[in-house]
Amino acid sequence: MSSKKITPSHDHDHDKVHKPSKEFSAKARIPSMAAYKKLYKQSIEKPEKFWAGEAKELTWRKKWQSVLEWKAPFAKWFLGGKLNVCENCVDRHAEGPRRNKAAIIWEGEPGDKRVLTYGQLKREVCRFANVLEKKGVKSGDRVLVYMPMIPEAAIAMLACARIGAVHNVVFGGFAAEAIVDRLEDSGATTVITADGGWRRGKVVALKPVVDEALAKYKHVQRVIVVNRCGNEVKMEAKRDAWWHDEVAAVPAKHKAKAFDSEHPLFVLYTSGSTGKPKGILHTSGGYLTGTYATCKYVFDMRDEDVFWCTADVGWITGHSYIVYGPLANGVTQVMYEGAPNHPDFGRFWKMIEEYGVSIFYTAPTAIRAFIKAGDHFPAASDLSSLRLLGSVGEPINPEAWNWYHKHIGGGKCPIVDTWWQTETGAILITPLPGATPLKAGTATLPFFGIDAAILDDAGKECKPDQDGRLVIRKPWPSMLRTIYGDKERYAKTYWSDYPGIYTAGDGARRDKDGNFWIIGRLDDVLNVSGHRLGTAEIESALVSHPAVAEAAVIGRPDDLKGQAVAAFVMLKGNFTESEDLRAELRNHVGKVIGAIAKPDDLYFAPGLPKTRSGKIMRRLLKELVTTGTISGNVTTLEDFSVIENLQRQISK
Ligand code: PRX
Repeated sequence: MSSKKITPSHDHDHDKVHKPSKEFSAKARIPSMAAYKKLYKQSIEKPEKFWAGEAKELTWRKKWQSVLEWKAPFAKWFLGGKLNVCENCVDRHAEGPRRNKAAIIWEGEPGDKRVLTYGQLKREVCRFANVLEKKGVKSGDRVLVYMPMIPEAAIAMLACARIGAVHNVVFGGFAAEAIVDRLEDSGATTVITADGGWRRGKVVALKPVVDEALAKYKHVQRVIVVNRCGNEVKMEAKRDAWWHDEVAAVPAKHKAKAFDSEHPLFVLYTSGSTGKPKGILHTSGGYLTGTYATCKYVFDMRDEDVFWCTADVGWITGHSYIVYGPLANGVTQVMYEGAPNHPDFGRFWKMIEEYGVSIFYTAPTAIRAFIKAGDHFPAASDLSSLRLLGSVGEPINPEAWNWYHKHIGGGKCPIVDTWWQTETGAILITPLPGATPLKAGTATLPFFGIDAAILDDAGKECKPDQDGRLVIRKPWPSMLRTIYGDKERYAKTYWSDYPGIYTAGDGARRDKDGNFWIIGRLDDVLNVSGHRLGTAEIESALVSHPAVAEAAVIGRPDDLKGQAVAAFVMLKGNFTESEDLRAELRNHVGKVIGAIAKPDDLYFAPGLPKTRSGKIMRRLLKELVTTGTISGNVTTLEDFSVIENLQRQISK
């Protein structure tokens, strides 16, 4: 069990409770704590009734026979029901009064702009669905999507959903080997990509990375490429085709079939405690219900809102809160291709002013970078259109919370600090903006139907302020269904600590008011700039270099990123330490996984601290990089001189 504690703050401002304003509450769907408590109680007593009420607001071709079949740890939601997820996100708006409403207001990093109304989005999605079918992609086939943040990324995902194909989006920052792993694990035969994307004024090439991956994985039959940047790419005659050529040759109408509620919608890989990322499988009816309902209540989305979630579609936040949730609600949203600091740190704020963004959802790591850049950037733009702010991905420290509240929200916007995971599909612990009193640093209370608790090692519920494991005791519709192709790993990873109960892998505690304070991961998963990375993944990348005998990776606290990656590397006998080798090893990790996984610190270690049975004692390495010394119990350490050597390395 983690012994990490959130440092108590003595700053008065940090303990302040922010109640929603009367104006905000008056218009909100859930206008008071009394209303929240009442509906929460009902939703926990009869979760199936609550979720069925939400699901009813979607378009079903055939109504379900039973809301939930729960044979722990396997859940089936809205059994017997049939729907088309894409139809729910696109057609039902395109065929009604929202047909000429903007669905996506997109801005490219160089400043190019596009607006897609729901009507246009439908035509684009239909065209691409026709392309996929014409090329032989069938329901249930896996399609790997490796794209920059351009509307075609969302169009590709929606077109897959429309024809029942299972998308697997891979973040554009991942390297060729990460693509190979995901292709192999998912058995995908189709890839959708672009020549490149714009990032910090440069073209980040994507198609060449796909080519590198496809030189190793030979089962891909078709690659469709968007011409975004005009960078030179090789096209293989039989396999590769340009998106624009293909869509020009098919009609803009497509009849969507209905699929079972439990039909797989997507697989998204995320890091775990082993070297191999897990393919998290989400299905259709339940996932859509969860993302739809959380957008409606947590962001209190309205027809007149302009929503902007700054995540990338390569992560779960982009799936749930760019593509499926907001579009299912028929809202207008902003999508941006590039970096927040291009050409400078004023970019986001200028866009908020230009498009009149009313709800803004971002990550604490971005907020900390904005604080560092200076208050004059947001001050130069008119941010008065904002009415609600959100935060996701890691605990938000009080300094970041207060700055966000004051400099972006003008002191008037509630901040919803939303806790959830790739596995949970949708937000599970969160304030409701018109009801919940806010305190910097807590994700506050469970969403409707979510039976969250903190348990100790013995499975007993913790007392207020006692650290324990965060668990969810009842199934919920947007939960993962399995780890792709590995039911045993699914059951063991999430459901074996306490039978029938979902273990999130996070340490947390509740205060006396019942608010949840998330402390951080209890497993070997790092949270670097809000992104999950497995220590074992980075270690195995390091060990794949010919110079490395053994490696240990840990997270050290970092003001900007939350956690930074620190690696300890033991070289093979015939290699010597050098600055060149240090740089080479860091780049090697970048090549194997992607730039986000490159170690920030890389130490050459003559030996690693191990127990007598040979286990690396990462706890000691962590203490060493954080404090410079070791104060804890070292009686199990096999050789103490290892620590003295490392201390010398670190202080160099
Ligand atoms: O440790 C928690 C942290 O991010 C993990 C989930 O990461 P991922 O699956 O990549 O999804 C991120 C976006 C939902 C969690 O186990 N986390 C996420 N949101 C919060 C958080 N920690 C504290 N507060 C949050 N609001």
